[in-house]
Amino acid sequence: MTPINRRSFLAGGAAVLAGSALPMSLIELSFADSSQDFTFAYISDSHIQQIKGARFVRNWDRGLIRAVAEANLLSPRPDFAVFGGDLAQLGKREEIDHGLEIMSALRYDTHYVIGEHDYYLDLGAYWQDAIGPLFYSFDHKGVHFVVLNSILTHDEWTHERWATGEERMAVMAGLDDPRGSPFMVGEEQRRWLADDLAKVGRDTPVVVFSHSPLQKIFKNWNFWTEDAEEVQELLQPFQKVTVLYGHVHQIQYSQIGNITFTSAMATAWPWPYPESYAQGPSYLSKLTIPMNRADPFFERDATGWQFVDIHSGKAAVHYGLPENQPRTVAFDPSLGRPRDLVYADGRTDPQRHY
Ligand SMILES: [Fe+2]
Ligand SMILES: [Fe+2]
Repeated sequence: MTPINRRSFLAGGAAVLAGSALPMSLIELSFADSSQDFTFAYISDSHIQQIKGARFVRNWDRGLIRAVAEANLLSPRPDFAVFGGDLAQLGKREEIDHGLEIMSALRYDTHYVIGEHDYYLDLGAYWQDAIGPLFYSFDHKGVHFVVLNSILTHDEWTHERWATGEERMAVMAGLDDPRGSPFMVGEEQRRWLADDLAKVGRDTPVVVFSHSPLQKIFKNWNFWTEDAEEVQELLQPFQKVTVLYGHVHQIQYSQIGNITFTSAMATAWPWPYPESYAQGPSYLSKLTIPMNRADPFFERDATGWQFVDIHSGKAAVHYGLPENQPRTVAFDPSLGRPRDLVYADGRTDPQRHY
């Protein structure tokens, strides 16, 4: 692999970016033999939500429709697309069907990652019928891709605690519901992953898709995977590893050992940063606009484009946020971690560092 021809890549994306800023990602992998270069598009967290019958929440529909429409115009043309999970809001068949109908307009083969909002109604039964397996791997032009189902949890919680699937779904869908349970990849999948990776050369680039972060960020909101360290241990021996995840509906980037982590924004809504969530006593009266974000009146605030270049196994992400300053985060070999090229020094408060 050689450093990516980043300028031509961003120039290609800029033609689309100029028209509108939208919540999806284009990811490029670059090789010494330029005929092997390719990109893929990444769309996540559409949360398609049924109101009643054929009525669905319009904002969430529109986010996904726009992302699909723009993805179809991408240049260079992506080889495939990935959906990062939380296609549905409450895992209903109608929501999954409606989401897939919107996604069917996408002109690329799509690999799906399951999210907790898709899973906890029927434990992935309809998802498997309509879409396919919950974890799998595939190879494309010399890169090994792994899709994990990272939102599993304890058997007792899943199978014994709730009277109905609806009740279980409602609890797991609540961001800060204390009756929730931490996510995990689980022993079965970790065994499968170890076997899968045993066939992969240590210098082969590995890209892992999970829904929740394969790291521990903030337990109260399940920005957390309980067995993250065990999964990371399986990935550390590889020289070029990137984990791409959804779920957090915000920009995050980090480095743990040899693994670069980067999150995707949502097409539905942004979550605030956990650091901004005050756990202490509050003296505010009941908020009529509870979303704690930069601009609660702008529905696309903190959603937007991400262009992720993966070169030498490390991600460099250029963020194009609607009506906000573009910013770039790139892996800095001298630091051994990603660096924010705009806000590297004198970082601002997390809620305002767009
Ligand atoms: Fe989500
Ligand atoms: Fe999620």
